[in-house]
Amino acid sequence: MTFNFDQVHDRHATGSTKWSRYPDEVLPMWVADMDFAAPPVIIQALQKRLEHPLLGYSVCQDNLRQAIVADLWNKYAWRVDPQALVFLPGVESGFNMALKALVQSQQNVVVQVPNYPPLRHAPGHWGLNKVELGFDLQADGSYATPLDSLRQSLQGGGALLLSNPHNPLGKAFPREELQAIADICLEQNAWIISDEIHAELCFDGRVHIPTASLSEDISRRTITLMSASKAYNIAGLKTSFMIIDDPAVRSRVNHARCGMVDSVNPLGLEATRVAYSEAGPWLAELKTYLQANRDWLMEAVRTRLPGISLQVPQSTYLAWLDCSALGLADPQQFFLQQAKVGLSAGLDFGDEHQQFVRLNFGCPRSLLEEGIARMERSLNNLKV
Ligand SMILES: Cc1ncc(COP(=O)(O)O)c(C=O)c1O
Repeated sequence: MTFNFDQVHDRHATGSTKWSRYPDEVLPMWVADMDFAAPPVIIQALQKRLEHPLLGYSVCQDNLRQAIVADLWNKYAWRVDPQALVFLPGVESGFNMALKALVQSQQNVVVQVPNYPPLRHAPGHWGLNKVELGFDLQADGSYATPLDSLRQSLQGGGALLLSNPHNPLGKAFPREELQAIADICLEQNAWIISDEIHAELCFDGRVHIPTASLSEDISRRTITLMSASKAYNIAGLKTSFMIIDDPAVRSRVNHARCGMVDSVNPLGLEATRVAYSEAGPWLAELKTYLQANRDWLMEAVRTRLPGISLQVPQSTYLAWLDCSALGLADPQQFFLQQAKVGLSAGLDFGDEHQQFVRLNFGCPRSLLEEGIARMERSLNNLKV
């Protein structure tokens, strides 16, 4: 490997959200932020940008639009008009803007659960009616969307807030399922708000399928949200973009900024341009490293954490651990207090997911090993 993903960086003095929540003795494995240095080409480009001492308000230049549309074509064979991109300081602002602009008060917003908490909470911010829909667990261990329930919930229009690839399940939607979901949305005149922030991180040779790339009709009903933030580990630079094909819809959604959602910052714009145009070799190695971490984790959970199970994450660096068989009152608190490992609580992702925790395996292997060793010890102590 050219890049050193094994290196542990002390993040305590950096103001990191991940490393500030808990006392120092806790190993944080919660928020979707990796413990790897950003790609060296991005750091170098930022250093160069800072040689110019002005950091005023900034707008996206043509070269950034070109870098993104070239990347979307190269990765997903998806052709996007450079003018379809709208820049934002966060994917979360984007799906909130889309809901505010497009959904009427009597319509439903469907969110699959478990799901990323800000997606679950977004309909409530705009007084919209939320319908939470679970997944069906298939015999082969995969999670599938219950299509009839989806159709029923979207009667009268509204919107589906889709997490694709899915956080926290790590599900990469197969083409047939994505197509069926999108067809139902079209048939019901519902919007598809597709959060694709984890798009680049699919494993085992899978290629992400952007929902809007399925057809022109689907593209006209879809608001896609993307960012270089997850794959290139630059989330703190707060730079994301929406892709909205139809100019009238684009203008409606953009209008929902409403003096609340600001423009993006110059360092984020530059880092995003470099990510999409120059950081490909880094991303390829990162994916290899993450996939090996995932495989190591699967084996470690199977052999060393009896009572915990999980489906193989097909994408993201998040593992959704089912702790039901342990019979704990609150698994997140148990591992926090007994193992000193800070995981995300399942209850935040779904009302019926109290017995789950989400573990972030986007870290040097030694930290992952340390986290599992701590969890193993806490479970062994439970037995005595
Ligand atoms: C599915 C998903 N969407 C959105 C976000 C947040 O994106 P942003 O920081 O750009 O608002 C995250 C962060 O974890 C996420 O996992």
